[in-house]
Amino acid sequence: MSTKGIRDFRPQLHYTPIMGWINDPNGLVCVDGVYHLFSQYDPDVHHTGPLFWDHAVSRDLIHWEHLPIALTPDLLGSIFSGSAVYDKENTSGFGKDGKAPIVAMFTYHHSSEDGDHSHDYEQQAIAYSTDGVNFTKYEGNPVLPGRERDFRDPKVFPNPVKGGWSVATVAGDRARFYHSADLKNWEKTGEFGPEGNHSLGVWECPDLFPLEINGETKWVLLVSMGPSRENRGSRTQYFIGDFDGDTFTCDGRFDQVEFIDDGFDNYAGVTFSNTDERILVGWASNWVYATKTPTYDYCGCQTIPRVISLVDTPLGGVRLASKPVSDGFFDAGKPSDGTLPGEVFKLTVTGSGAASVTLGNDKGQTFVFGVNEANEVFIDRRNAGAKDFSEIFADDWFSENAVPRFYDGKWTLELTFDHSVAELFADGGTRAFTLQLYPDTPYTAVTAEGNAKITVHTLKSAE
Ligand code: FRU
Repeated sequence: MSTKGIRDFRPQLHYTPIMGWINDPNGLVCVDGVYHLFSQYDPDVHHTGPLFWDHAVSRDLIHWEHLPIALTPDLLGSIFSGSAVYDKENTSGFGKDGKAPIVAMFTYHHSSEDGDHSHDYEQQAIAYSTDGVNFTKYEGNPVLPGRERDFRDPKVFPNPVKGGWSVATVAGDRARFYHSADLKNWEKTGEFGPEGNHSLGVWECPDLFPLEINGETKWVLLVSMGPSRENRGSRTQYFIGDFDGDTFTCDGRFDQVEFIDDGFDNYAGVTFSNTDERILVGWASNWVYATKTPTYDYCGCQTIPRVISLVDTPLGGVRLASKPVSDGFFDAGKPSDGTLPGEVFKLTVTGSGAASVTLGNDKGQTFVFGVNEANEVFIDRRNAGAKDFSEIFADDWFSENAVPRFYDGKWTLELTFDHSVAELFADGGTRAFTLQLYPDTPYTAVTAEGNAKITVHTLKSAE
């Protein structure tokens, strides 16, 4: 168990493991109203060992029940990220006694015996379950064999053009697509990239899904990209375009990189399979400092699941917008009296022009956010709490950068605060910011400067 913690920072609305380390959300699938969330898991809170798939289920995406570890490393390697689908028609043949299987597709990461990571390799494999708890690895694994480096993170989805299934994987600095009728036999159908790449690192955790906008179906490709200093470590980019059943083509907005989140703690985000709405979960951390954050018996948490959509904005065209599912768990709110109600709350701030909001504690530590004179949204955690564990966690970037709004005039900022994670949504979620914050003592006061009205929401009592 770790001894690095200074106080209990465990969030309540964000998923954390009972103990140990987690990173990427994996295998997101909904079956009969039950959401399955798997996570990259290492029992060692400092993450020094091979990775497993942790497993939890929920009916409301906020209250999670922990289940036994779903996938364990074996002779083929460590279990890296992947996805899951509900194979209703039993195309895989893994169904039993009339029960359709959940089929998970994941990466086997083989670490080279000589310790030289450039000799590591990855292959894709599948596992299935008919009870939603116990998973059996397919005896024909790997289903996408080979000895390629940086070839991983399969995201399976039903192919609406050709029927059957497609999978998006990454391979170096691009995404690669395959097609299958039975989830076991795969054929390569196309590639996308590296156009628009913001990073010097490899591509990771792709996702490809359709969303409606202006009566049209557009396809959104998510790609998480490895640390690069200019972009503050691990960030997730999105591309909007089309999918012809074989491959993805981008509408061509490569001039400006679009991130799903403008904070620094939302990586490897992917969406649930088999849901009506498109729901995204990311890992609320950043590889640059993930192992060093000052939590105690757990390390890493997932973002609050977010319903994502495309919206047409007046200043920025078509954008991804996010809305956290936790909104439904907060009450209608009361005008702020300057105090904060504990360590889980939501603030709705409405205003116009330049204004800032400051959360503060009795140690003089502050987290500040708002809108500046240039109509940009800013966040500032330079003096928000513990920060010495990383050079970039709280450096001057925050005073020098802000992101443009996609609307003019009045604004609404919605902040969900949960012990050590803040998620800020501006203008209906067309800008989102996820940030870890580690104040030495809880924030107890909130103040505003400029034209801003704050409403404070607490959790509804039933929760
Ligand atoms: C992204 C990632 C994935 C990989 C996993 C390993 O954070 O690097 O590409 O499968 O984490 O834990």
